Amino acid sequence: MKKTILILMIFLAACSEPTESENYPKYNPPSDHTVNEDGVRHKPGLQDPLKNCVSCHGQDLKGGSVGVSCYECHGKKW
Ligand code: HEC
Ligand code: HEC
Repeated sequence: MKKTILILMIFLAACSEPTESENYPKYNPPSDHTVNEDGVRHKPGLQDPLKNCVSCHGQDLKGGSVGVSCYECHGKKW
């Protein structure tokens, strides 16, 4: 019985922490995207996206001309 639990724990430990790159889609942002958020580079001014990001990421922040939607990774908060 004890042995089963130990094996189960090892199994869970190995699977429970996927790396960052497995959690999020990966893009190649321009060099002005300097704010690192858990390995995802954002452009400064990210706290006010409806002002600072719409020109490329779209008026609705769903992709625009660059095709990267904020909502791929974030809930509906803007
Ligand atoms: C001048 C155009 C432009 C503006 C303005 C812009 N972005 Fe981007 N952004 C891009 C491009 C181009 C990419 C990469 C697209 C690709 O690789 O397909 C990108 C990618 C990203 C990514 C994905 C990065 C990654 O590592 O996966 C994030 C996050 C992001 N932008 C956040 C922001 C935020 C937040 C703002 C506003 C503060 C912003 N961007 C403003 C052009 C812009
Ligand atoms: C490829 C995934 C990805 C994309 C696309 C993305 N983000 Fe993020 N963002 C993250 C991660 C991961 C974090 C750090 C963890 C967190 O706070 O949720 C983060 C954090 C943030 C934060 C700081 C934390 C907070 O909640 O206040 C803001 C603001 C933000 N992102 C805005 C944006 C905006 C605006 C866009 C679109 C222009 C965008 N993000 C696109 C992954 C992404």
